[in-house]
Amino acid sequence: MNAVSQLRKKMANIKQYNVHCASRWVLKHQHKFKQSVRACSLRVKQKLGYEQDEKANEQYEYDSEYTFRYADLTTKLCDPTQLRSKPDVSELKFGQIFTDHMLKVFYHKQLRGWQKPNIIPFENISLHPAAKALHYSIELFEGMKAYRGVDGRIRLFRPDLNMQRMNVSSMSVGLPTFDTHELTKCIRRLIQIDQEWVPHSESSSLYIRPCIIGIDGTLGVVQSDSALLYTILCPVGGYFSNSSSSNEGVSLLADPAYIRAWPGGLGDRKTGSNYGPTIRVQKTALMKGLHQVLWLYGPDNQITEMGTMNCFVFYVEDNGQKVLVTPPLNGLILPGVTRQSVIQLCEEWNEFRVDQRTITMDEVIKLSRNGRLLEMFGSGTAASISPVSLIDFVGQTIRIPTVEHSQPLYKRIRDRLAAIQYGHVEHPWAVPIE
Ligand SMILES: Cc1ncc(COP(=O)(O)O)c(C=O)c1O
Repeated sequence: MNAVSQLRKKMANIKQYNVHCASRWVLKHQHKFKQSVRACSLRVKQKLGYEQDEKANEQYEYDSEYTFRYADLTTKLCDPTQLRSKPDVSELKFGQIFTDHMLKVFYHKQLRGWQKPNIIPFENISLHPAAKALHYSIELFEGMKAYRGVDGRIRLFRPDLNMQRMNVSSMSVGLPTFDTHELTKCIRRLIQIDQEWVPHSESSSLYIRPCIIGIDGTLGVVQSDSALLYTILCPVGGYFSNSSSSNEGVSLLADPAYIRAWPGGLGDRKTGSNYGPTIRVQKTALMKGLHQVLWLYGPDNQITEMGTMNCFVFYVEDNGQKVLVTPPLNGLILPGVTRQSVIQLCEEWNEFRVDQRTITMDEVIKLSRNGRLLEMFGSGTAASISPVSLIDFVGQTIRIPTVEHSQPLYKRIRDRLAAIQYGHVEHPWAVPIE
C-alpha cells in the first residue's frame, strides 16, 4: 500500500468516525435542531415575502406579523372517481351542496403565524372539543359570489371589499389578519379548479364562504393562538325558499323587544356571534306568517337592518324631491358590499338624493300615511335586492307599495347589478377570475 492509499484509508476512517459522531450528536440534539431550523426557515421566507409586498400590506397589517402567500399554495386534487355530479340548476337551494375542493390555511402563533395555503378535496374538519370557536364563538365568516357571465367568463363581485371586511372582523375577535390580495388569489385558484360548479344560469351563482375559526384546544376566554382559515363553495339558486317573496315582496316583523346590535358591540362585523341569537326571532316571524325580521334599535325605534340585509327606504319629500335613505354606518350596521354598490350606483345616476341617516319607524309610518312612502328594500349578496311589501309593527300593519310601481327603483338597481355581475356590461366591480 503506497502512502497515498494509506492516507486515503486514514481519511475515510476519520470521515466515518466524524459521520458517526455527527449522527450521534444530531440524534441527541434533534429536538433543538428541528425547532431552530423550522423557525429560521419560516422567518427568512416570510420576511422576504413581507418586504416584497409591504405596500399591499400597509392597509391591513393590523396585528399579524406575516401573511400566507399564494406563491406557496399547494394543490391536491380529488381522484376522478371522487368528483360528484353537479345538481340541476332548478333544484339549487341556498347553501345545501358543496363543491369538490376547499382551501385551508392554518395559523399557529408558535410557528410564526400563517402556514402554507392548501387546496384539498372537500373534507370534514377535525377539532379539539375545547376549540375556542365552539365555546366562545371566536370565529368570523364572509359571503361573496362568483357569476358565470353571458360570455362564459366567471367573475367575482368586488372581492376586495369582502376581503377587507374579513380582516376587520378577524381583528375584532382577536384572530389573525392577512394580505387580502393573497387570499383573493387563493380563492380564485379554488374557483378555477371547481369552475364546472359555477352554474350556467343567470338565476344562479357560486356562493363563496371564507371563514376563520379559533382552534386552540383550551378552555378560557383568551385569544386563540391557532386558527384555521378555510373557504368552501356552493352553487346557489334563490335565497328565499319561497321564491314568490322576491317578486311579491318580503313581509317583516318589527318588534322593539328584539335587538340585533348595539353601540360598542360587533353588529358591524361578520362574526358568528351576531347570527346565532337571531334564529329564535326569525322563527317567531315565521310563526306569524312573516318572512323576515326588521331589526330596530333604541327608544325611537330606529330601523337598522332586515334579516341579513341592509335596508333602504325610498320616499318623496314634502317638496316633491325623491330621496333614497339607508341607515348610516354607526356601528349597528354591517357595511354591506351590496349596500355600498347601491349607494354608488344611485349617486352616479344623480336622479334623486341619497342619504345615509337614521330613519325611524315613526317616520316610515308617517310617510306611509301621507302616501309618500314609495319603496323599501333590502340589499345583500345572498338575495341581491329584495322588495318589502309589509311591516308588522306592534300590532300595526304598514303596507308598502314597493312592487306595485310600473318601474320600481328596486328592480332597476337589481337589474343593473345583475348586468354587471353576469357580464352584460363590462364594469370594474366584476373581476374575471382568469
Ligand atoms: C347582517 C347583515 N347585513 C347586511 C348584509 C349584506 O351584506 P353584503 O351586501 O355584503 O352581502 C349581510 C350579509 O352578509 C348581513 O349578514
